Amino acid sequence: MSRGAASQPQVQRVSPPADRRAQLLDDVVRGLADTPPQLPSKWFYDGRGSALFEQITQLPEYYPTRAETAILQAHADALAAAADADELVELGSGSSTKTRLLLAAMHRHRPGPTYVPLDVSETAVDGAAEALQADYPWLEVRGYVGDFEADLAALPRRGRRLLAFLGSTIGNLDPDQRPTLLAAMRAACDPDDRLLLGADLVKDTDRLLAAYDDPAGVTAAFNRNVLEVVRRELDAEVDPDDFAHAPCWNAEQDRIEMWLVARRDTVIALPADGQRWTFAAGEGLRTELSSKFRRDGLSAELTAAGFEVQRWLTDADGDFALVLAAPR
Ligand code: AVJ
Repeated sequence: MSRGAASQPQVQRVSPPADRRAQLLDDVVRGLADTPPQLPSKWFYDGRGSALFEQITQLPEYYPTRAETAILQAHADALAAAADADELVELGSGSSTKTRLLLAAMHRHRPGPTYVPLDVSETAVDGAAEALQADYPWLEVRGYVGDFEADLAALPRRGRRLLAFLGSTIGNLDPDQRPTLLAAMRAACDPDDRLLLGADLVKDTDRLLAAYDDPAGVTAAFNRNVLEVVRRELDAEVDPDDFAHAPCWNAEQDRIEMWLVARRDTVIALPADGQRWTFAAGEGLRTELSSKFRRDGLSAELTAAGFEVQRWLTDADGDFALVLAAPR
């Protein structure tokens, strides 16, 4: 490292790393006992999972990242002016392309913004912090490794805040968890702060399904990777190849669900903890919810959480929405 101390990105841990194993164990033990058996999708994102997700964003079938990037390309300057913020707090520190568009626009509007990525993945925060710091010497980076639901309140503020939750990651939450997260985001906002929320929209079912079932098999590898994480981090007995990638559209709930369905009778076991779950051929394990939104419904959820929608921006095809909201 030849750069001076002033340009070193700072990354801190909010919750101690020792908690990670305990949290994963708790999620596995409770999730696999649930009906249906399920695992929280946040465990997809170890180093390999994050790399596979980056590959997903390049797939021709996976439109959300391109659509959201197009919205930012068209509107980043207007959003930066409307938010007029000193810092960008990004939950789930996403793809650096989108973040770059926002930070560059913020810097044009008000030079020298601070970037505050918060993510469960240490790799993601370190990567985002270093890459952005290297390319944007004017940027102050203060990254945090932590859980965005639990740790948002603990982040120190450096002036007016733009809180960004991009990529439709909000769609991963169970609908009855969304009010809690929206309330936490509202609590992290002063009256002049703004929220920028990315949301994938309901559309033709075939296109939705294709985005989660690519012929190249990248999404299948991403889905099975959660079992690799469980095996490695909990010393579990599990063969990811015993499970098939099976996405489906839940029309009642407006969401894509990713499942892993047993191809043959198999088990997932935690020998050290004396736990064992059997899966008969055809039985499934739900690994992700990816809710798709409608304008009325999402606006109502934001209003209920204490936000007022200021701008509702979509791409030319109307596939994806970027919503700027203010405390009300
Ligand atoms: C990053 C959570 C928004 O739900 O579309 C991509 C993750 N899962 N393909 C999504 C994902 C399967 C993605 N999010």
